[in-house]
Amino acid sequence: MTVNGKTRVCAIIGDPVEHSLSPVMHNAAFKKLGLNLVYVAFTVTSTELKTAVLGAKSLGLKGLNVTMPHKNAVMNYLDAVDSTAKSIGAVNTVLNNQGKLIGYNTDGSGAMIALQENGVDPEEKKLVLLGAGGAAKAIAYQAAQDVEELVILNRTPEKAKKLAEALKSFGAKVKAGTLSSKVLEEELPTTDILVNATSVGMHPDVDISPVPSDLLHSDLSVMDIIYNPLETKLLKDAKSAGAKVVSGIEMLLYQGAVAFEIWTNCPAPVEVMREAALNELEKQGVCL
Ligand code: ATR
Repeated sequence: MTVNGKTRVCAIIGDPVEHSLSPVMHNAAFKKLGLNLVYVAFTVTSTELKTAVLGAKSLGLKGLNVTMPHKNAVMNYLDAVDSTAKSIGAVNTVLNNQGKLIGYNTDGSGAMIALQENGVDPEEKKLVLLGAGGAAKAIAYQAAQDVEELVILNRTPEKAKKLAEALKSFGAKVKAGTLSSKVLEEELPTTDILVNATSVGMHPDVDISPVPSDLLHSDLSVMDIIYNPLETKLLKDAKSAGAKVVSGIEMLLYQGAVAFEIWTNCPAPVEVMREAALNELEKQGVCL
């Protein structure tokens, strides 16, 4: 594309951001649709967050993605935050709507769309979510609206309980517990969907899994939100057990697709975005 006087900018802000897959993913999508937009990454430290966000507004950036460690703090500098992002307490996407910055959270919806687009329908299903950190919280808010039963298991059970308590008003039956072999053994036989939102199995700890392999079964659909490695030990074990598997790149892709649609009002070209993200992962030496 030609960068000209009318080109608008979208950016990711965070620290670190050098390995983010969002620039290649969104630039491929802008190019595919012939949009006069360009996407860049800015390293922004916590002390610079306020001036960075106000600067983005002054410069008329079209949109922002916000990553660690600013997903919570950024809310202080926006003109409005949508209700889902407010409940989650984290913003990962900002739209500059004619000079007003509006915050959204596309992580949870991205995860649930990733499941659906990969043939896993959450309706009337039991979903076990591993983890109660930032990513798990976003997924839990969306899952509680989509599934029949949600079980949140975490190494620190108090965090899972607090999260479950906050989800009481949603439709699903929600319970919480400890992430342990004993609890997994009780829960997994009746589970339809298992989502790992802990960091267990992430590079370099590629030989560990949050779930003993003998508890996985062929009626399960398993999604890991880790994408380095692309096929975690959990996903390898799940595949061997005959379960359906959805890789972490899918959540990344669909949270990006939802952000793209917020900025552009155009349906996201997901195939182009997936290809760009996978190419970049390969360039970065991630095992595909
Ligand atoms: P993110 O923003 O990626 O969700 P996070 O908020 O730091 O990151 O959350 C990490 C999650 O992985 C938490 O649920 C954490 O469990 P605790 O709340 O008990 O810390 C989980 N986690 C990290 N290391 C773990 C391990 N070795 N075993 C089990 N759970 C682990």
